Amino acid sequence: MPAVVLVSFEPDNEVHVKELVRQRQIAGFGADAVDAWREKVRRGVKSLQWVFLASPEDPTTPLPYVPAVPEEGAAPQPLFAPVGHIAMDWEAAIGLPEVASKEEGNLYFTSLYVLQSAQGRGLGNLIMTAAERLGSSPPFNAKILTLSTWDSKNFCAEADLPNLREITDWRNAKELWYQRRGYVPFIRAASIPYIPEVGKDGTVFTLNSVYMKKKALELDA
Ligand SMILES: CC(C)(COP(=O)(O)OP(=O)(O)OC[C@H]1O[C@@H](n2cnc3c(N)ncnc32)[C@H](O)[C@@H]1OP(=O)(O)O)[C@@H](O)C(=O)NCCC(=O)NCCS
Repeated sequence: MPAVVLVSFEPDNEVHVKELVRQRQIAGFGADAVDAWREKVRRGVKSLQWVFLASPEDPTTPLPYVPAVPEEGAAPQPLFAPVGHIAMDWEAAIGLPEVASKEEGNLYFTSLYVLQSAQGRGLGNLIMTAAERLGSSPPFNAKILTLSTWDSKNFCAEADLPNLREITDWRNAKELWYQRRGYVPFIRAASIPYIPEVGKDGTVFTLNSVYMKKKALELDA
């Protein structure tokens, strides 16, 4: 797997905005939040990073990603074709400073996404490592790195939710992945923003999220 290069999202760059909407449409949620995200980037409470594959000759040179499956379509500007993105926020929808706060140095990773055709090949780990390094360095200088994902207890036998799906759902394995990366759970709560789930019998319900954290990386100067 090649290295990845992070490139800052520009909120007033039409190519960036179109590509973000496209990737969030493919992801299945968040496309309608892009304008609010742009505003947060302008206010300095959000940084969104594009993820590019790096050139094998020079790990700092971003290469356009060509999806292996035509259904994934193409980026609006073929030379600007990132493989995914991740946001780094000083504000969280849950509104708790222990999740996100510039004053307290709590930096919240959110909206991590890798185009489907590139998933499962190690990119997610490379992105998290790159984002953790970036967030632990100037100008971020985070003290604590936080994130949220689906609570792995959503479908356990004691869960107070309709047991409508299989526990093997990859969404419920993400908490364990982040645990393997050193994050520890500290809040379990209903997902915010509210994401309605429709069960097999038509029941609408919501799942819990888990908020996790770890100390920022100690990097050599
Ligand atoms: C989550 C996501 C970014 C991971 O990216 P990726 O490139 O597929 O990740 P990797 O290949 O590096 O795998 C990361 C870990 O997840 C595990 N994993 C990957 N796909 C999996 C699957 N379908 N089922 C179970 N585990 C899986 C890998 O084993 C790996 O764990 P390990 O390194 O401890 O062995 C990607 O799947 C994605 O964009 N999903 C849709 C959006 C999303 O869920 N974002 C995260 C919100 S919290």
